[in-house]
This record gives sequence, structure tokens and C-alpha cells, in this order.
Amino acid sequence: MSNLDTHLWWQKDIVYQIYPRSYKDNDGDGIGDLPGIMEKLDYIKELGVKVIWISPIYPSPMADFGYDVSDYTEIHPMFGTMEDFVRLLEEIHQRDMKLILDFVPNHSSSEHPWFLESRKSKDNPKRDWYIWKDPKPDGSEPNNWLSVFGGSGWEFDEKTGQYYYHAFLKEQPDLNWRNPEVQEAMLNNMRFWLDKGVDGFRVDVMWHMIKDDQFRDNPPNPDYTENMSPYDKHLQAYTTDQPEVHEIVNKMRKVMDDYDERVMIGEIYLPVERLVKYYGENNEGTHLPFNFQLVLLPWKAREIEAAINKYEGVLPANGWPNWVLGNHDNARVASRVGREQAKNAVMLLLTLRGTPTMYYGDEIGMENVFIPHDKVQDPQEKNIPGKGLNRDPERTPMQWNDLENAGFTNGEPWLPLMDNFKEVNVKNQEENPKSMLNFQKRLIRLRNSEPALHVGEYVPVSSAGNLLSYIRKYSDKEFLVVLNLGNSEETMDPDISGYRALVKISNYPEIENREISGKFSIKPNQGLIAELK
Ligand code: NOJ
Ligand code: MG
Repeated sequence: MSNLDTHLWWQKDIVYQIYPRSYKDNDGDGIGDLPGIMEKLDYIKELGVKVIWISPIYPSPMADFGYDVSDYTEIHPMFGTMEDFVRLLEEIHQRDMKLILDFVPNHSSSEHPWFLESRKSKDNPKRDWYIWKDPKPDGSEPNNWLSVFGGSGWEFDEKTGQYYYHAFLKEQPDLNWRNPEVQEAMLNNMRFWLDKGVDGFRVDVMWHMIKDDQFRDNPPNPDYTENMSPYDKHLQAYTTDQPEVHEIVNKMRKVMDDYDERVMIGEIYLPVERLVKYYGENNEGTHLPFNFQLVLLPWKAREIEAAINKYEGVLPANGWPNWVLGNHDNARVASRVGREQAKNAVMLLLTLRGTPTMYYGDEIGMENVFIPHDKVQDPQEKNIPGKGLNRDPERTPMQWNDLENAGFTNGEPWLPLMDNFKEVNVKNQEENPKSMLNFQKRLIRLRNSEPALHVGEYVPVSSAGNLLSYIRKYSDKEFLVVLNLGNSEETMDPDISGYRALVKISNYPEIENREISGKFSIKPNQGLIAELK
């Protein structure tokens, strides 16, 4: 790449999410830990991803598996010690890689010392650190706000006769970000990790952080149907995406900007027009508001094409795009799009313009794992059973080899393993040149070595039916991407006069290194990346 290129690491490199409970267990308690991650750093480096994001590793009663933090500046003993953490960070940096931590500012655990104080009395100095309200005259909840995890968002506290608000579990009371003391305490928690050298944060539910100060009722959702989560009965008009949230995001960003080249990624589920507001005016907001469209849209070429173009269109000047293919809250991509489309999905993720986020295990094509009723762990499934909201299926242990428990643990794994781990595992796939793992490694290498693919322009190419096509270009290099998102043969006729292109990579390896030109046919589920001559 030319020295003139000014793109930063978080724009060029691939983010790899680790769900720490399920990556590698080192101490035999059946739960993944930091020493386990340490053992696998060379594997991650070899994969070619350079940025690791680890879901919460802080002390927590684990009501929501770490998203209920009881100490923002310590490590949960289950995951290891602060020394383990410091060593892990050093080892990551030694490999020229980066580490992003999860930061959970919207709510703490109900066991956090702040909340224990807050609930003691109405005049406790920490009372206003959380959101407390009097009951209505009849004793009922202050308003109709619901919890994402089922039931009312208000929990009555006998001792002081008031309700507190929790957007998630009652064990996750929402912090009151309108209170300047809360702001300062939480910004200091960010500084604590930045001072240790952490390269950035993925900020949990950023769009939830401020609620309506008049506590108005949310309106009913006219599109609600019985098969949805009860939370969807309302439009979240007064509980999320409030205008004042941007002031908070700006303050968080200022903290980041006091350090060199750190990144802040916001977890935000909103329609793109509202999502891109989180870049902030003049890019003073979050560096990357997570773009979940590939997770949420039906796997249909025309819909995805329209979404890409719309997103490109609404991005603010200098707003850097990003794409996510999977995470610990959504079905595994191989299960969502089907095994036949799994390679196309990753070709799409890694060739769209913007920072890609991959989810651990997707590199070997892990699928949703069936969780029998008595093994369910996810509080969302426990509270709202039978609506397909269980997140355990995408959180199962990483499949390292064909030995006991797939090499994940010597103990009893906290969630069941996928039945087929004897076939689908890292060791097998490393040995098989045609495996998903080796395909993804080659793809990542191609992306990392070609500026066109990691920082180049995006140019749509018109296509029809199930085909999705575009060009990525940087200086005098251009790559044509063609993906057949359907299972019938299609004809591609790029509107590029007299072009010739060399196929660099395809899920049909027999066409690699072949030349294409003019009109050509694309097999069912076929995808390719070709360099234009
Ligand atoms: C979003 C996280 O990704 C999810 O796992 C968690 O349950 C909620 N936020 C609440 O923190
Ligand atoms: Mg362990």
C-alpha cells in the first residue's frame, strides 16, 4: 500500500468476536477463560484477523452471562486474574494485533456496589445513579415501559416503595446517564482500561443509554403479531434513541480521543437513517455504529443490493462503513443462510466496503446447536419461552478437534456441543485444503493483501435474479465480485466493455485462475472474486 494511505487499523483490519465462555477452557471448569484464549492466539493470528473483541470478562453474577457487570475494573475469577489479562494484552500486541473490550454502560448488575447503595434509601447519595420512580396512585408501574427480556421494565422495591427501571433483566438496573456523577464514574471506567492499553470498546446497547425525561408511555406497535417477542408490542419511542444520547456518545468519544488511535464501536439496532446519526456531527460520535443489516435481512440478492446502496448513500462524509455477519445474539450465519451459501456470505462480508466483524466458529461453519429444554441457559429463552429467542444455539463451545468435548474442555461444557464436532472442527479443517477454514484463510489473505478489497471504492455492477455484483477498486487495481445467492444457474453479463478478469477465489475452486470475459454462467450457490485486467 502506498505511504499516502491514511486509513487506520480499525478501518482496514477484520474484527473477530470471541464469546469468552465458549472459546477455550483452560482450567477444566467447563467455561472458557483468558488463559484459554491465550493458548489460541497463534491460531487467530494465522487466520489473518488482527482485531479481537472479547465479550464481557468482568466480575458478574452472570444473570445475563457477563452483561450484568458488578465491577467495571476487575476480571471475573472464572475468566482469570488481572495478571492473566495484562499478559493476554501484551501477547496480543506482540503479535501486532489489537484488543477491544466490551463496555456495558447502560446498566450494571443489581449486585454492583452502586446499586446496593442506591436501593438503601431514597436519600442515599447514589439514589439518583439509577432510575427510580414512584408508583402510580393505584400502586402500579410508573408507565408502560417493557423489558426486552419479557414483562414490565419496572421492578418494585419493597423497602423504599419505588420502582426502578431495567431495560433488560431486573438484575440489570439501568444507570441514570443524565446524572453527571454517573457520567464521570463511567468515563473513568473507560479510562481505566484505555490506560492499560486496550485498543477500544464495543459499547453495549448504545442507543438505550438515555430515556425520555418525561417518562411518557410508549405507543403500541401496529405491526405486532403474536409470534414476536412481547417487547415488540410497543414502539420504543421514549425508551431508546433519544436525542440527548448523542451528547453522551460525544463525551465517550472525547475520552477515546485523549488516547492514540483507539476505536469505539456502538451496538445499535436501528434503521440505517437513524443508525448513521451515531457517527455524530462532524464524526464526533462513535467511530463505528455496528451495521447489522446482513444479520437481519432476508438472504435475497435484490434486497441486499438495495440495502448496500442505501447504506452507502446515507453514510455521512468520512463516516467509515462496517458490516457484521454474526454475533452472540443472533442465529449462526451457516444456519441462517444455509450451508450452501455460507461461503458466499463470508465472501460478501469480506469484500463489502467497510470494517467486517466475524464471529468465532463461523470460520469453520459452526451451526446453531439444538438445546434441549433442561439445558437452556439464556435468560431470554427462560423468560420468553418458545418464540425462537434462545441465544444458546449460537453460543456453544468452539470445536477445536475430534477428541472429547471437541478439545474445548476437560470438564463438563456449560452448553452442549454440536453433534457433528467430530467432522466439523479446526484440526480436521486445517488438514483439508478445501475446508471452510482454509477457504476463509485464503479469502482473508486476499483481502488483507489487496488495498482495493480493504479500503477501495465500492462500485455497484448491475445484475439480475439471484445475482449480486460489484467492483472494489483502488488506484489501478479492480476486483469484480459476483455472488449467486440462489440455488439455480444464472447468467452474469457485466456491463463492462471488453473486460477480462482472472478468478482469484471461488467456492467452486475449479474456476480459480481461469479467465472470465463477456457473458458467463454462474452455478447454483456459486461466488467468485476476480481481478480485472
Ligand atoms: C446486548 C448484548 O449483546 C446482549 O447479549 C445482552 O443480553 C444485552 N445487550 C444486554 O446487555
Ligand atoms: Mg475455565
